[in-house]
Amino acid sequence: MSEPRAYRNFIDGEWVQSTGGRTCENRNPADTSEVLGVFQDSTPDDVDAAVKAARAAQRRWSQVPAPKRAEYLFRMGEILVRRKEEYAGAMTQEMGKPIRESRGDVQEAIDVCYYIAGEGRRLHGYTTPSELPNKACYSLRMPVGVAGLIAPWNFPMAIPSWKLIPALVCGNAVVLKPATDTPLSSYHLVKLCQEVGIPRGVVNFVTGGGAAVGDPLCRHPEVDLISFTGSTETGREVGRTCADTFKRVSLEMGGKNAMIVMDDARIDLAVEGALWGAFGTTGQRCTATSRIIVHKKVHKEFVERLVERASDLKVGGGIDESIEVGPMINEAQLKKVMEYIQIGRDEGADPVLGGVRLTKGDYGLGFFFQPTIFTGVEPSMRIAREEIFGPVVCILQADHLEHALEIANDTVYGLSASIYTQDVNKAFTAVRDLSAGITYVNSSTIGAECHLPFGGVRRTGNGHREGAAHTALEIFSEWKAVYVDFSGKLQKAQIDNN
Ligand code: UN1
Repeated sequence: MSEPRAYRNFIDGEWVQSTGGRTCENRNPADTSEVLGVFQDSTPDDVDAAVKAARAAQRRWSQVPAPKRAEYLFRMGEILVRRKEEYAGAMTQEMGKPIRESRGDVQEAIDVCYYIAGEGRRLHGYTTPSELPNKACYSLRMPVGVAGLIAPWNFPMAIPSWKLIPALVCGNAVVLKPATDTPLSSYHLVKLCQEVGIPRGVVNFVTGGGAAVGDPLCRHPEVDLISFTGSTETGREVGRTCADTFKRVSLEMGGKNAMIVMDDARIDLAVEGALWGAFGTTGQRCTATSRIIVHKKVHKEFVERLVERASDLKVGGGIDESIEVGPMINEAQLKKVMEYIQIGRDEGADPVLGGVRLTKGDYGLGFFFQPTIFTGVEPSMRIAREEIFGPVVCILQADHLEHALEIANDTVYGLSASIYTQDVNKAFTAVRDLSAGITYVNSSTIGAECHLPFGGVRRTGNGHREGAAHTALEIFSEWKAVYVDFSGKLQKAQIDNN
């Protein structure tokens, strides 16, 4: 067998090895004997070098007119279109999601490039009258400076693009730290930045773990902003660390997303939505449907139909077009899911489907787990309250809409929620009362589009919205208010005209 390809960090326009000389392997979670590449296991010194390079390049980049910055990003989108298939295949190998989903992940990065490229000619501020005569007032967006981008493994290209592309259009320089499980898809994005000619030092890429790369990035005094997507526990640490140096910090964290199925819902639609929401990406989405709250009148029918459909889902290596559910990302996630299965059983919930690791034949090569459905779940159970991040869904019962909404909102998270109903009054009541950053009607809890704000309330986030919508510009830019007095004399606001 040939040696796996060695990938390097990208610092100040050069592909370099880590100063520590250590590397780590990127393995295929569907077949862990397959090493896709060897990446740098970087050190705090590498982070420091990357931050310094970003700092040195940032000012000049900020002086490139925004529409010109945007042109680089547009070209990235065009190349991504051409390489979609290649990058999707690589993503399925490193992350495990079925190839159709990987194509969607690359497509999301394309959408972000095109959408944000348009923002280069907007980046609107506003003009407004002054309270004083002969004085002009307006506001404009400035870059924040050096942005540290810490990305998760579940959307290996889409989520890094949510951060990287808006950061660049706003005139920031960046240091991107991909998840240790999925550095290859981020590498592809960074390579594109180089290919389209983004000046050296503007985009830096440092691979490695949280302690040696993520934490020093959050601590670094020359980093102005951290954009983090990952678990709520890590997000709390990131927030605390960033507080020391007063960094702006955008946190996108966990979810315990609920789908409500009312008695007037189209059950066939709800079942399809539940399958997609709960088992798409093997349940490893922050927006995954992890609780289904079903009206008691249709509970029996819904469960029967869902179990029937879920037991037919084809689990396997995602390169095969017919596969619907891929492996879990790694051993630790698999173990966590298995622990929750035990917790659910101990709490008295009923695993009517699944609950077991798949090990026969080729399944034994990777981290496969059977789609799992728990019924008899009560809102107080841990499996109904804690994020599992795997192919496990809990079914709860409700007596009426108010009851369903109360259960849905009884969570510390607030990312995504959905309701299936044919009644417009119930739909709008739910849209108003579901306490979540994203709400769907007659659609699953997943499927956000890049030009709408993505994020959630309570322990899901800290008030920012990414996903590339115009709200991402709020994260990656600072406001400047400008006053121009052309009266030729001293005018005192709040005093002279009153
Ligand atoms: C996530 O849930 O982790 O909304 C991100 C979706 C995708 C992004 C999901 N566009 O399903």
